Amino acid sequence: KIKRVGTFVHSTQQTALQVQEDALLGVDTEGKIAFIGEGKKLEALSQVFQFSPSEVTQLTEHEFLMPGLVDTHIHACQYSYAGTALDLPLLQWLNTYTFPVESRFKDLEFARRVYTHVVKRTLTNGTTTACYFASIHTDATLLLGQIANDFGQRALVGKVCMDRNDSVKHYRESIQESHDETCRWVSYPLAKPVVTPRFALSCSRELLEQLGKIAKNNNLHIQSHISENKEEIQLVKELFPESESYTDVYHKYNLLTDKTVMAHGCHLSDKELAVFKETGASLSHCPNSNFSLCSGVLNVRNVLKHKVKLGLGTDVAGGYSSSMLDAVRRTLDASKILTIQDPKHETLSFEEVFRLATLGGSQALSLDDQTGNFEVGKDFDALRVNVAAPGGPIDLIHSEGPKVGIQTLIVVHFMFAFLNWSLTGDDRNIVEVFVAGKKVVPFTEPKAE
Ligand code: GUN
Ligand code: FE
Repeated sequence: KIKRVGTFVHSTQQTALQVQEDALLGVDTEGKIAFIGEGKKLEALSQVFQFSPSEVTQLTEHEFLMPGLVDTHIHACQYSYAGTALDLPLLQWLNTYTFPVESRFKDLEFARRVYTHVVKRTLTNGTTTACYFASIHTDATLLLGQIANDFGQRALVGKVCMDRNDSVKHYRESIQESHDETCRWVSYPLAKPVVTPRFALSCSRELLEQLGKIAKNNNLHIQSHISENKEEIQLVKELFPESESYTDVYHKYNLLTDKTVMAHGCHLSDKELAVFKETGASLSHCPNSNFSLCSGVLNVRNVLKHKVKLGLGTDVAGGYSSSMLDAVRRTLDASKILTIQDPKHETLSFEEVFRLATLGGSQALSLDDQTGNFEVGKDFDALRVNVAAPGGPIDLIHSEGPKVGIQTLIVVHFMFAFLNWSLTGDDRNIVEVFVAGKKVVPFTEPKAE
């Protein structure tokens, strides 16, 4: 169906960043990657896979394909006020901005406006998979699933559950309501439903227990927040004195499974990380949010050493940027800060961070059998990036690329362009976005080829 030849870049389990020049990639009618071969073997491939060489799209020398970005943690209903708050710590920020705004999502027209914006913006930013928190309102949450579907984004969506909220009392549910509405939400086969206790502080033991059961009985994904900020951790300790740790609270109610993703985890102990490893639960690293709310600096290296799955998240609006490229940059910053504080800290490489933003995210969401990199049989979720578009580094490539021997020159130049775009470029360079083989950006063009 789709066949492209040109430079591809992606990550594998073995190699953080693999650059394949003159690669030829074919996508079948179901949107799955049918073959990946060498461009110079076009004739042979066209015979085996029965297509005409004239059907192949050639990327220009300024373009490359990379896997779509995976945002493992974003609050769709917080998009409208991203960037307004850098002055409060987490719990005060929730009370002042978050709960009052989220309560407005019972208004479906307001929800439609905001959710349409979020889905369009994240797609143009190259987020092919997003794991969303919505609000407590089931109908608005259904609408978010519908909008993501209509625009073709791969979405996991959670109706937020909270039966405890002492600051904005109209923004909470009874245990029964939260249970019943979660059951109603998960009964719709729209976007992938995620069981979503907001965090331990906004849920009673009974609710946590019921949500654990719903997830188990329906084999569902689970998402929440953990160990984001020190004050939060202290309050969890006071509210759940019977639990050994924050991790233990969720573990006790069967909320840590291999389909769980927990945001932040900045202050988890090694012992808690061992529980994550044991249960297969993953972490979403949200550095922009962690910096903006002064929550903490997650030691990603230590998480990886514990072999805990980890992806990156924007955590809008705790994080002010909805772009996963920003999450890549802030992840590098967070790692460098740890190295500044302790020169023995092994800084994350750019290549490793790129892998976290793509393959790592798909693993954290247990979707790596479907997406995350270019492997035959996976869905074709991809960005076509043109570094010569406005904002791109192409002028520099011609004038100043590092010169490292004639054989490596082309690869070095590609890496220079790729790094430069990743660190300084933006959505203007993302000329096409595909999800499961379907073109989803630009929106105005037909959605399928
Ligand atoms: N913890 C509980 N709710 C939230 C939220 O909306 N944002 C962040 N960053 N942390 C939370
Ligand atoms: Fe969050």
